[in-house]
Amino acid sequence: MSNFITTPIYYVNDVPHIGHAYTTIACDILTRYSKLKGNENFFLTGTDEHGQKVEKAALFNKKDPQNFVDEMSQNFRDLIPYLGCEIDEFIRTTEKRHKLAAQSLWNKLKDNDQIYLSNYEGWYSIRDEAFYLESELIKTDTGFIAPSGAPVDWVKEESYFFKLSKWEDKLIEYYETNPESILPHSRYNEVLSFIKGGLKDLSISRTTFKWGIKVPEADNHVMYVWIDALCNYITALNYPNTESDSFKKFWPGIHVVGKDILRFHAVYWPAFLMAADIEPPKKIFAHGWWTNEGQKISKSVGNIINPYDIIDKYGLDQIRFFLFREIPFGNDGDFSKDSIATRVNADLSNNYGNLIQRISSFILKNSDSKVSKPKNFKDTDLNLFKSFDETLYNYLKHMESFKIDRALKNIFDYLSEVNSYVDTQAPWSLKNTDYERMVEVLYAVTLMTIKCSILLYPVIPSSIIKVLNIYNLSINDLNLTNFKNFLPDTIILNKTKPIFPRIEL
Ligand code: MSP
Repeated sequence: MSNFITTPIYYVNDVPHIGHAYTTIACDILTRYSKLKGNENFFLTGTDEHGQKVEKAALFNKKDPQNFVDEMSQNFRDLIPYLGCEIDEFIRTTEKRHKLAAQSLWNKLKDNDQIYLSNYEGWYSIRDEAFYLESELIKTDTGFIAPSGAPVDWVKEESYFFKLSKWEDKLIEYYETNPESILPHSRYNEVLSFIKGGLKDLSISRTTFKWGIKVPEADNHVMYVWIDALCNYITALNYPNTESDSFKKFWPGIHVVGKDILRFHAVYWPAFLMAADIEPPKKIFAHGWWTNEGQKISKSVGNIINPYDIIDKYGLDQIRFFLFREIPFGNDGDFSKDSIATRVNADLSNNYGNLIQRISSFILKNSDSKVSKPKNFKDTDLNLFKSFDETLYNYLKHMESFKIDRALKNIFDYLSEVNSYVDTQAPWSLKNTDYERMVEVLYAVTLMTIKCSILLYPVIPSSIIKVLNIYNLSINDLNLTNFKNFLPDTIILNKTKPIFPRIEL
């Protein structure tokens, strides 16, 4: 199987923050998981560089828009390895190939009679890059604001429109036959009821500024930034060449997006695609938003979380783990110093890290640095193995439905079981009385620790490489389906150092 996993492309009006980091790490986890399963993957991210919001930011910084976006895009590119993410491609909407793809999509929509010229008169929010109906806005003392809190302006201009209203029934039919195509399910319901509430034709070009992709044969119009931006997903697969290997192999894709941009992905994008004779996305997952110590994150409050700072402070895998264990993927979450420390100390340092540390140092000291597979296991050992099989089953089930926190919880519940097994089997007390049994116990624990480590790989990859190194195992042979072949009958251990130091508050 092949999976095309995408982040939204990020606006370059400002530097990256925790929200961007969160989506990128989510996609990295999903891609690594998919790799573990033996799938072929394409992980795409990039930057959204056109539109009024970015143009405004360039002006504010007294820079030419192209120079400005070149500089700002690099910040997003640089962040990726710092997040421990391995992408396959980084796309920028100012690239030539993207302009060509977006214009081809436009032409296709035009040829398919999906576009007409008219006038737009209504509300627009530059910050959200979105058109709003007055009924959607919030009334304040001084006028209206968008539901997101962003300011809105009244605009009146000539505009091309996409015949979105024509796609209402087709979208409803598509979603009703594909109830898993939007996750979590509550978001699916939200999208479906939005569509059922009626769709209006969508303004897809602007004439009052220049920073965008030109509309073919209408030089005074630039494309609405969202039609330009969404097209990035297929640009990266060689659109308009839908016969190319990568398009054929990887489309339709899996889009991971924040809840604020679900409508663009789950309503407009599938409609554009169907109208251009292209299949809609395979899946759209909408995640929640992070707050900082209970407060909405915003520039004006001055509480933006810089991903470099928190990674430097707590550690990369500690942050990756916290973000995806603490909060059900899809829900909103609160970033607080106390909860990071509590979570990391309880799960990574105590439950998992201590287990590795105490067993491996015991083996190094008392079992000649190695453990070999015994001829027979006792019932208690077999029960421990059986319980792992159940854990694996649940892990797979949860990962398939993007319930990363549940998948992790399963592993850590199981690691608690392994710790109890160690306590009751007390290998240290067997050293002088029953050496053979001691090695059996040590082997059983080591084996289960390694298996759990493999399941943790997508979330905390760099730590797992270190853990596997203790057991002389290489990540390259790692695969969820070959546990048996992956593990040698004799496991020889290397010296260890604690991998997850406790976070002191
Ligand atoms: N450029 C558009 C996406 C176009 S995709 C074809 C865009 N860019 S963005 O930079 O503003 O936002 C990117 C992502 O960051 C969105 O998915 C958004 O939900 C996410 N987040 C922004 N702030 C966030 C939090 N505080 N918490 C979690 N995610 C947040 O939208």
